[in-house]
Amino acid sequence: MAAQTWLRRARRALLATGTTAVLTAALIAGTETASQAATQGPCDLYASGGTPCVAAHSTTRALYGGYGGALYQVRRASDGATKDIGVLSTGGYANAAAQDAFCSATTCVITVIYDQSGKGNHLTQAPAGGAAPGPDNLAPATAAPVTVAGHKAYGVYVAAGTGYRNNHTNGIATGDQPEGMYAILDGTHFGGGCCFDYGNAETNNLDTGNGHMEAIYFGDSTIWGSGTGKGPWVMADLENGLFSGVNAGYNANDPSVSHRFLTAIVKGAPNLWAIKAGNAQSGALSTYYSGPRPNVPGYNPMHKEGAIILGIGGDNSKSSSGTFYEGVMTSGYPSDATENAVQANITAANYRAANITSSALTPGARVSLKATTACCTADYLRHNADATVAISPITSGSSAADKSDATWIVRAGLANSSCLSFESAAAPGQYLRHYGFQLHTAASDGTALFNQDATFCLQAGHSGQGFSFQSSNYPNRFLRHYAYTGYVAGDGVGGNTWDSDASWSEDTSWLTAQPWA
Ligand code: AHR
Ligand code: AHR
Repeated sequence: MAAQTWLRRARRALLATGTTAVLTAALIAGTETASQAATQGPCDLYASGGTPCVAAHSTTRALYGGYGGALYQVRRASDGATKDIGVLSTGGYANAAAQDAFCSATTCVITVIYDQSGKGNHLTQAPAGGAAPGPDNLAPATAAPVTVAGHKAYGVYVAAGTGYRNNHTNGIATGDQPEGMYAILDGTHFGGGCCFDYGNAETNNLDTGNGHMEAIYFGDSTIWGSGTGKGPWVMADLENGLFSGVNAGYNANDPSVSHRFLTAIVKGAPNLWAIKAGNAQSGALSTYYSGPRPNVPGYNPMHKEGAIILGIGGDNSKSSSGTFYEGVMTSGYPSDATENAVQANITAANYRAANITSSALTPGARVSLKATTACCTADYLRHNADATVAISPITSGSSAADKSDATWIVRAGLANSSCLSFESAAAPGQYLRHYGFQLHTAASDGTALFNQDATFCLQAGHSGQGFSFQSSNYPNRFLRHYAYTGYVAGDGVGGNTWDSDASWSEDTSWLTAQPWA
């Protein structure tokens, strides 16, 4: 409720009961207006603008000032039990501590992302579709930690293969009906496959033709469309095409955008649509396209079907990745003024990257890094005599040389002191580095390139276990074992065999262990 509306109602109610003195006191103190204003959510703003939310999804916060229900549901691996994660207070932030307690000593996946709009448009595990089998994977519940207004929360980490869907919605635009949508995404986590989307799609998981979708796409696919720079871009997935503007293919007004927290907007009405984006941490939105439907047959009028997808394309294409924190879909074409107010609400929410730390990974510590993939849970990251890097089983009975080769001395990152480098315990002065995307140990040659190749930034484990280590100069690539050999690898992107998306999340997630030497 807008603060003024609330005041008007309060005044009426209080006058009716003759308690004017109380009202006057509240007005003088000004506290009531302030607290009401603070609890406005994005969906209150859309409602005030006459384009109400008909789907409102977030694992981090309430999207209405009056929402006090569950945000999402997690399921833990240990016993298969599920738990709804709610808000700390009405209109507030996710109760991440409840998830942490429920998932302690095991791992959890996100099973449901509840719709806060009251329409029941919840997102659950996506089924098989025309492009790929299913059901899709569920996101690990801890892989995308953030803070929102200082409160710990978790986003939805979509590795390739992960997807959510609802084919039986209520109130979502169909045909050529107008709608709007925004999503807050991690602008540094993306892929080039098809298609990391959030929005309107087919109700039968099949590609039913041009104009049967209208969704936000984020990534650096150039299969259908692109903008300036090398990506990633916000585009509209309208089915059989990711559009960056009125033309199929390239449109010069759609820039690469990679804000750590990205507000992405797509909206569509009869022969009108727009792409907008901005930094979700500060500043205003920019309009990258606003105008008529693409000059390609099949998109005017639109044939929207009204399902909702997250992380996948309309036909369940699931070869891309991204991270989702919150998003909504509206009934009606939101005004720019409404979207500006929503952007102000988003920046005020103060999204921040979580500071991932581990006492086992502080500079100076000795550590061994244990693989987590089912194949390899007795294996450790080690180098060989020829300076190649691999994983192999290490036990108390292993040779002293093997134990030493599987032990690293943690150093402040050579290229970035807020990240890490790993010096060989067996060969002091030799660092873990990538070259040609394969891991080696080598002595520094003093170049900036060496320092970059030897620097890795700590992230929450992609699979929900342990930690992942991001290459500082190739942020889409992470320390990975593949066929028992060490690489930096992308999630289905990069073009090398070791960039395979199969078990990528597990292969890039490592446990810290007592140092073997
Ligand atoms: O429009 C791009 C993609 O094409 C859609 O997401 C998918 O359904 C189809 O393969
Ligand atoms: O490992 C990828 C690149 O390969 C490194 O940055 C560079 O040193 C080599 O060309």
